[in-house]
Amino acid sequence: MLTETATTNAETDLSIENFRISDEDLPEFKDLKFENINELHLDHPGANDKEYRARRDYIASLSKNFRMTGEITDVDYNAREQRVWRYVAEELEELQQKYASPFYLRAKKDLGIRTDRIPQLTEMNRRLKELTGFRLAPIEGLVETRGFLSWLSYRVMLCTQYIRHHSQPAYTPEPDIVHEAIGHIPMFTNPNFADYSQFVGHGARIANDRQLEELGRLYWFTVEFGLVEHEGDIKAYGAGLLSSFGELEHAFSDQVERRRFDLEEVINHEYTYSDMQPVLYVIPSYAELKEVTKKYIESFGGK
Ligand SMILES: [Fe+2]
Repeated sequence: MLTETATTNAETDLSIENFRISDEDLPEFKDLKFENINELHLDHPGANDKEYRARRDYIASLSKNFRMTGEITDVDYNAREQRVWRYVAEELEELQQKYASPFYLRAKKDLGIRTDRIPQLTEMNRRLKELTGFRLAPIEGLVETRGFLSWLSYRVMLCTQYIRHHSQPAYTPEPDIVHEAIGHIPMFTNPNFADYSQFVGHGARIANDRQLEELGRLYWFTVEFGLVEHEGDIKAYGAGLLSSFGELEHAFSDQVERRRFDLEEVINHEYTYSDMQPVLYVIPSYAELKEVTKKYIESFGGK
C-alpha cells in the first residue's frame, strides 16, 4: 500500500506532486485480480492459426508468472515476430516524423525503441523508473476499465508482450507489444503526462460507475487518441494514433474535426470503439491536461 511519504489517505488525498512509488509501496502483483482477462477472440486474425495461438499462450504465461514473482521475463521473440515488428515500426516511424509530438519522438529514442528489433519490457521499465518513477507490469490481455486504470495510481502501466498476427501486420483487435511500446510507453517519460495518468488512476479507484465511464472517455480521447498543440501546429500523442498508420493519417485528414480540449465535453462524449474517430481533442499542453484533471478528480468526493 502507499506509505506516508506518498499520502496518508491514498483514496482521496490528491495533494501530491510527482510522488515516487518505491518498491515497498506497491501492492503485491499476485493480488492483481481481474474479473476477466480477454482471451483471443474468434475474429482475431490469428484465431485459426494453431502455432500463433500456442505462441500467444506461451507469452501470456510469462505475464502470469510475473504476478507470482514480480519479475518481468524477457521474451525470446522469433524471426517471424521480429519481421512483423520491423515492418510496422518502420512504416510508423516515417509517418510519425510528420505527425507525432516532438516530445514523443525524443522519448522513443531515449527509451531505445528502435525499428530493427522488438524492445523488451525490462529495458524500458528500467529507464522509465529512472525518469518518472513509472513501471511496466506484463499482463496477458485486455482487462476491465477499473482494474486497468487503478494500477496507474501506483504509476504502473499494464502491458501485453505478445505481438499481432503476421497476416495483418497493420491491424490488431487487441493491445500487443507494438501498441504498448510504440503507442503508450514513451509518453510515460513525460513528468506531466505521468502525473496525469496517476490522477486518472486515483480517480478510477474512488469513482462511482458514472464517473468511471467518464474517466474511460477521458482516457480514450487523451491517452489513446490525444492531440497536442505544438508551436502553432497540432501533433499526436495518443497511443491509438501513434501505433496505427490508418488512425494516424486519418487524424490529420479533413474527415476529422479537431476540437480544442474541453474536459466537460470530453467526459460526456460517447465514442464507438471500432470506428475511426470523427472528432478528436487537442490539449494546449500536458501540464494543462494534468491540472484540469486533478481538479476534476478532486471533485469526485462531493459529486
Ligand atoms: Fe492502449
